[in-house]
Amino acid sequence: MARAGIRQANFSSARCIVELGAGTGPITAEIVKRLEARTQFLALERDPDFVRVLNNRFPSSANVRILQADVSHLDSILNDQGIAQHGVDCFVSGLGTPSLPGSVRNSMFAAVKKYLRPDGIFSNITEVPLYYLNFYKSIFEHVSFQFVAFNMPPGGVYHCRGIR
Ligand SMILES: C[S@@+](CC[C@H](N)C(=O)[O-])C[C@H]1O[C@@H](n2cnc3c(N)ncnc32)[C@H](O)[C@@H]1O
Repeated sequence: MARAGIRQANFSSARCIVELGAGTGPITAEIVKRLEARTQFLALERDPDFVRVLNNRFPSSANVRILQADVSHLDSILNDQGIAQHGVDCFVSGLGTPSLPGSVRNSMFAAVKKYLRPDGIFSNITEVPLYYLNFYKSIFEHVSFQFVAFNMPPGGVYHCRGIR
């Protein structure tokens, strides 16, 4: 599932990748493995215990930053990190996005809309295959679903482009 989550990220051209809800880092690990030195990577996680695990697994470096943060503050976080100039090429989310409180979701997608590059991708893993397809289609113009059978439980990834 972690590998599927980043399937549509272009590591050779990306200048900025942002992970939302990194947990203990299964997707983070796949990103860090492929990260080019010139690509800036931010991983956001709200839970302080998970952030401690992430900091141990992925020590900060010039282009890797783990931030304890709530995605409802995504706009100011990206602004503080100096992302504004070139935008985000790829958001990868491990969040149960459709189940987030409406206010959190709205501020998160407002920031995604502001920072996602026109050719950028927003990918969100799920353990409930296809159930939220219409949810993502209401936010993005182009949504494809990648089924991931070899995961416990089976799940998938919504790959979304063209935020409305
Ligand atoms: C379903 S887990 C996925 C964790 C990891 N990405 C994975 O694939 O195993 C969702 C993660 O999002 C974090 N999270 C939930 N709400 C959040 C929020 N509002 N801001 C930041 N992180 C949040 C949770 O603490 C949890 O670690």
